[in-house]
Amino acid sequence: LENGVGRTPPMGWNSWNTFFCNINESLIRGMADSIVSSGMRDAGYQYVVVDDCWMASTRDGSGNLQGDPTRFPSGMKALGDYIHGKGLKFGIYQAPLDQTCAQYFDSYPGATGSQGHESQDARQFAAWGVDYLKYDWCSPSGTINDQVATFAKMRDALAATGRPILYSINSNSVHSKTGPQRNWGDVANIWRTTEDIQLVWNTDQTNGYPMGVQNIINVNVPLAGYAKPGGFNDPDMMEVGRGTLTDTEQRSHFAMWAIMAAPLIAGNDIRGMSSATGSILKNGRLIAINQDSLGLQGVQVAGDANQRVLAKRLANGDVAVALFNQSGATRTISTTAAAIGKTGASSYSLVDAGTGATTTSSGTISASVPAHGTVVYRVSGGATGDPQTPASAALVSTAS
Ligand code: GLA
Repeated sequence: LENGVGRTPPMGWNSWNTFFCNINESLIRGMADSIVSSGMRDAGYQYVVVDDCWMASTRDGSGNLQGDPTRFPSGMKALGDYIHGKGLKFGIYQAPLDQTCAQYFDSYPGATGSQGHESQDARQFAAWGVDYLKYDWCSPSGTINDQVATFAKMRDALAATGRPILYSINSNSVHSKTGPQRNWGDVANIWRTTEDIQLVWNTDQTNGYPMGVQNIINVNVPLAGYAKPGGFNDPDMMEVGRGTLTDTEQRSHFAMWAIMAAPLIAGNDIRGMSSATGSILKNGRLIAINQDSLGLQGVQVAGDANQRVLAKRLANGDVAVALFNQSGATRTISTTAAAIGKTGASSYSLVDAGTGATTTSSGTISASVPAHGTVVYRVSGGATGDPQTPASAALVSTAS
């Protein structure tokens, strides 16, 4: 969407994965404090997104949305001011139909949606200083045409406010996954591509509920052609730092989100975040790959049931390559400079984005990758072609 924002994938934090409906203003303020003190802000995490359940379940006498009076007693404008005072940006959640998705969670009254109030709500968000709107379908019904018309209504209402507001949509929530994926780039800055991510590696779902990290990668990789500055596929918020996943899986999750040009929205509790988690989320080499100004999503240049090789062309002529092991055992995964669009040099430099170690190669790009792991190299040297049309003979692999 050409609205001036989201030229690279948004980075930030969202309350949902860890806190669900258990949010209040002091929690959000404390999180903003920690995003600063942990170095997350300086690493690039900008948006503090208050997900579902911030709202009172009814509008006020003038039909305006209002913060829940018990949990957000100072009001949403004051919260936005606090977040802005920390050098961060303010994100909020809403749904386009009659109720938010909280209606589906035990004992939570779904709050009122924006249907019929689009312009009023957009003006309200702008007046509160909102910089990011997550707009979430939350209904089992509605055709794709209904969805396009409804999401476009809020797109236009936001534009009419004159405030630059990053527009994040989810057409998938509580909605059957039939038919091909739509390219939402004319409607939103980021669009969810799957059902909600869960704290699990793999559930064997193709696209339903629940989705693990591996399942989401399976759906999101083939959509690479849709990504560009102003519009990115959104494979959902990250589960890094939330336990359950192994260290290798968490590093892999972050590396794959980085090379897929996914929004980097942390979903963990930043207060008291471990240094191991911080080192994953604040990896500047991977963040630079994610935030590259060309805005390309890594394309798969080779892959089979056990592994994927993704290549992402970067603005300075380097190419990032991910060697992703989706099998259950260590594998040596190999590709070539030519396969990722690099030609013409007798020696290429490979910087391992995980460790920072530099090696050189005359053309083979290879690593021993643990089960569920990913090795990302930043490859420089020679000329750069388009990895979307790679040379043939991409993948040589042996289990080891
Ligand atoms: C949907 C969304 C989630 C979250 C919840 C809130 O399930 O996909 O990301 O926003 O609604 O109710």
